[in-house]
Amino acid sequence: MCKSYTVAVAGATGLVGRTMTTVLEEQNFPVGRLVPLASSRSAGMEVLFHGKPVKVQTLTDDSFVGVDFALFSAGASISKEFSPKAVKYGTIVIDNSSAFRMDPDVPLVVPEVNPEDAFKHHGIIANPNCSTIQMVVVLKPLHDAFGIKRVVVSTYQSVTGAGKKGVNQLEDEIAKKPLREKKFPHPIAFNILPHIDIFLPDGYTKEEQKMILETKKIMGVDIPLTATTVRVPVFGGHSEAVNIEFERPCPPEEVRAILNRAPGVIVEDDPSKNIYPMPINAYGKNEVFVGRIRKDFSIANGINLWIVSDNVRKGAATNAVQIAELLALRMK
Ligand SMILES: NC(=O)c1ccc[n+]([C@@H]2O[C@H](COP(=O)([O-])OP(=O)(O)OC[C@H]3O[C@@H](n4cnc5c(N)ncnc54)[C@H](OP(=O)(O)O)[C@@H]3O)[C@@H](O)[C@H]2O)c1
Repeated sequence: MCKSYTVAVAGATGLVGRTMTTVLEEQNFPVGRLVPLASSRSAGMEVLFHGKPVKVQTLTDDSFVGVDFALFSAGASISKEFSPKAVKYGTIVIDNSSAFRMDPDVPLVVPEVNPEDAFKHHGIIANPNCSTIQMVVVLKPLHDAFGIKRVVVSTYQSVTGAGKKGVNQLEDEIAKKPLREKKFPHPIAFNILPHIDIFLPDGYTKEEQKMILETKKIMGVDIPLTATTVRVPVFGGHSEAVNIEFERPCPPEEVRAILNRAPGVIVEDDPSKNIYPMPINAYGKNEVFVGRIRKDFSIANGINLWIVSDNVRKGAATNAVQIAELLALRMK
């Protein structure tokens, strides 16, 4: 019989944590026991796993006794406090927050890009930022083929990237109801905010900095990249307009063929039929969708692309479960 694992989800009542449980179930990850963890506010709640209710427990120092894998999605401060405690119990932590991503001792892994890095862990593996994950899944095969010289990306990011509170603010504003909570500094319904995470002294936002630094760490190369990250009033996923300059010629038909073969990527690109990726279609799916593949006529070797993915899935929950699958395969 296949080995099974005790899997904890820290943040099990959140957007990402709930989806982690769903993806574990859909992927048939060998979960012997699920341990859903959240704050004391969620005590008594239940999550459904394979049709059975499982009680949510309050996260404490002892939550990880006997746990093989802990998928963390309860924010960076919770990860910083509890991940080292979990590691002491021999648990492997896969952390969705930004707490450890740039720590040189912690691998930052996207299974389609740098799967081998997962095995260099010392107890903690970091899941990258959602907008970075969907971009590097596309950049990696193109870098291997043509050598990337520079990337310019502008994002159009779903309110789901800001968790339950972000979704609640948009829903309430659309319904013209009093806000349950205010997540964004301005109205988000019928608006666009060129502002995700905090502003840094250099004028960039932390989200932009994450895309720049995390891409280099995951790809293992110092790719010059600049980013503008933008929140839009959308639920289903993040979209990105990406301009890539290459070392070598990159005919669009070759780019399309390479991406058609790339793991985790689905090309949706038929302008004659108005076919291109959209968040409304990416919602609930695990893949990264790419379209609008066209030559950039302003430079020698340039391509423009449009990339869309469900940030809660591939940008968070799915990527984390894929990392657990990688490790479990070698633990058999
Ligand atoms: N949303 C995305 O697309 C996305 C993508 C990549 C990474 N992430 C990261 O994933 C994490 C969670 O994001 P989310 O969107 O799922 O947020 P969310 O919907 O706000 O959920 C937050 C979760 O954390 C739990 N939590 C909060 N304080 C806690 C505490 N003191 N002790 C234990 N649990 C606590 C909450 O439990 P209660 O319900 O009990 O409060 C809830 O389960 C964040 O670090 C975020 O940056 C999110």
